[in-house]
Amino acid sequence: MKKTLMDIKLCNKKVILRVDFNVPIANDMIMDTKRIDAAIPTIKYILEKNASLIILSHLGRIKTEEDKKTKSLAIVAKKLSEILNKEVKFIPFTRGEAVEQAAANLKPGEIILLENTRFEDLNNKAESGNDDELAKYWASLGDVFVNDAFGASHRAHASVAGIPKYTAESALGFLMNNEVEHLEKILDGFKRPFVAIIGGAKVSDKIKVLEKLFHVADKVLVVGGMAYTFQKALGHQIGTSIYEEDRIPMAKQYLEEFKDKIVLPIDNAYTDEFADKTPLFTNKNNIDIPEGYMGLDIGPQSIELFNDIIASAKTIFWNGPAGVSEFKNFEAGTKGIAIAIANNKDAYSVVGGGDSVTAINKLGYQSKFSFISTGGGASIEFIQGNSMPGFEAIQDKE
Ligand code: 3PG
Repeated sequence: MKKTLMDIKLCNKKVILRVDFNVPIANDMIMDTKRIDAAIPTIKYILEKNASLIILSHLGRIKTEEDKKTKSLAIVAKKLSEILNKEVKFIPFTRGEAVEQAAANLKPGEIILLENTRFEDLNNKAESGNDDELAKYWASLGDVFVNDAFGASHRAHASVAGIPKYTAESALGFLMNNEVEHLEKILDGFKRPFVAIIGGAKVSDKIKVLEKLFHVADKVLVVGGMAYTFQKALGHQIGTSIYEEDRIPMAKQYLEEFKDKIVLPIDNAYTDEFADKTPLFTNKNNIDIPEGYMGLDIGPQSIELFNDIIASAKTIFWNGPAGVSEFKNFEAGTKGIAIAIANNKDAYSVVGGGDSVTAINKLGYQSKFSFISTGGGASIEFIQGNSMPGFEAIQDKE
């Protein structure tokens, strides 16, 4: 058993808290605050115990200097401050004098939020490569480490799995406990039929970790960006749709091995560019997307097919939208899946992943699911029993 917040002394301590504030941002606005809201109980508890907080989070993925312009946590610090009705001092650096001074001057009840941990990826991938020096440095800023970043706990990154090696104590936050409690209901046994719906745009990441799910689930509905890789593997034309060439062999292998389980869309909604335009549709007799066009959603025939499969499920795990749900013209598939799950009142239903959750929030359907996870990739890994470096790094209870 891992230590939790209740197991460590917090009074007068400087707590290094890793959260997952990887929130959707458009036009300088946070589109969905669920991941921030979900960490509030942990933050409040730590402050009530008369401790101070050094908060760390990633936001998006940083590959170039240019990426930094749109991936600063400054906007998140402002939102957190509004939610808490309390000052959250944003430190626009990940290391250096300003960071050290701010941490040294922290008084009980105060909060600082450092800049996006993945800015460190421009230093030889120090964050995502779990650089020991960086982990040690961040650990040196405080006394204890608390991980409440469920969404990032499948990543062996410096701020997730590295810091607790160097703090005197480490523990899981409330959000982490809550996730484990609910997701274990799938991991430790579930009622059949078990239907999984896997979509989203992180094709390369997700496709690698689906194998166990294919073994375990009764049906796996493959949608979103993932579906085009599978359609291409079957020899269909997908135009300029998103797909992963080097995952085609894997998709082919899955299609062969799990042909009775995998259900692909039978029609596509597409247009000529990545834009919110009136869609054109393929149909079940010919799902090929013409050259120069890209698929951005599933079509109405797929929604109908999926609806029937979802209606008969007793356990449902949904991860990743069916299309570009932030575009009005391409939200129907994701909405259709959300409605189908909401209508199945007998099933234990879990949804994970930023975009699917945002779609549910837009529909106001939060209460119609058994559990909404803050983790996308993390929830897929967890329910398959895969390694979660963010958990494993936390100290065991004595
Ligand atoms: C997520 O959005 O699933 C988490 O924040 C992890 O992000 P990552 O896939 O970029 O590591």
